[in-house]
Amino acid sequence: MIEEAAKLLARSRFAIAFTGAGISAESGVPTFRGFNGLWKKYRPEELATPEAFWKNPRLVWEFYMWRMNLIRKAKPNDAHYALAELERMGILKAVITQNVDDLHREAGTKNLIELHGNIFRVKCTSCSYREYLKESGRVDEFLQEKDVPKCPNCGSLLRPDVVWFGEALPEDTLDKAFRLAERAQVCIVIGTSGIVYPAAYIPQIVKERGGTIIEINVEKSGITPIADIFLRGKAGEVMDKIVRLIK
Ligand code: OAD
Ligand code: ZN
Repeated sequence: MIEEAAKLLARSRFAIAFTGAGISAESGVPTFRGFNGLWKKYRPEELATPEAFWKNPRLVWEFYMWRMNLIRKAKPNDAHYALAELERMGILKAVITQNVDDLHREAGTKNLIELHGNIFRVKCTSCSYREYLKESGRVDEFLQEKDVPKCPNCGSLLRPDVVWFGEALPEDTLDKAFRLAERAQVCIVIGTSGIVYPAAYIPQIVKERGGTIIEINVEKSGITPIADIFLRGKAGEVMDKIVRLIK
């Protein structure tokens, strides 16, 4: 099975990857669903909404600061590096991720589409102020702040520049992702439950256009019914083997 996956990838002229929280699990970043997906007594789905934010911005910011602090210490794992390597080899044309953790960029992926935003980016709830904390070098300062973060421009509340439940994805980002999916001959789906839309349309579009789906997950997901090859295992271990086989 894994040999077949490697062969398909090596021969493809246009492959993409579609990733979710499971690809970062081996880096120590908790996934959203399942036993390890809890923060205090809340499910992420209860906190990652505009309603939750306006009801209790402090609680929602506390959750995001906790995640940002965890993610800041996390390093990319073999799966992130394998995807960057496949891009350098000219096999992979893009990584489309649902993750906000920046680990694909850290691993060296160049053509990265972040469908759900980036946890190190913040934006103002009133004006057009935006900041990428890694670029401005303010991650530490931000995490030490005891108050709810305010816009340096207008004083309104800042919020994480991520997509919350009930919010639309940025149109240009989604468009770009759909166009890549339309062209893809192979799509490697890694570590996603595949139940959050519109992101989960990506592999479906690939499949409808006659492309092949290779899925890597520790368990079956919403994508598994359309997967041509299902490789059960940890993302880092399986991807490392695939890259070795291709080489
Ligand atoms: P989930 O937490 O829903 O799913 C994680 C998936 O990773 C599950 O299918 C696990 O079986 C799998 N998994 C766990 N460890 C793994 C490993 N080491 N190797 C391979 N697979 C592993 O995360 P997502 O599918 O990313 O949205 O969730 C989708 C979206 O829902 C997120 O982007 C976020 C969330 O709420 C927003 O915030 C808008
Ligand atoms: Zn502002």
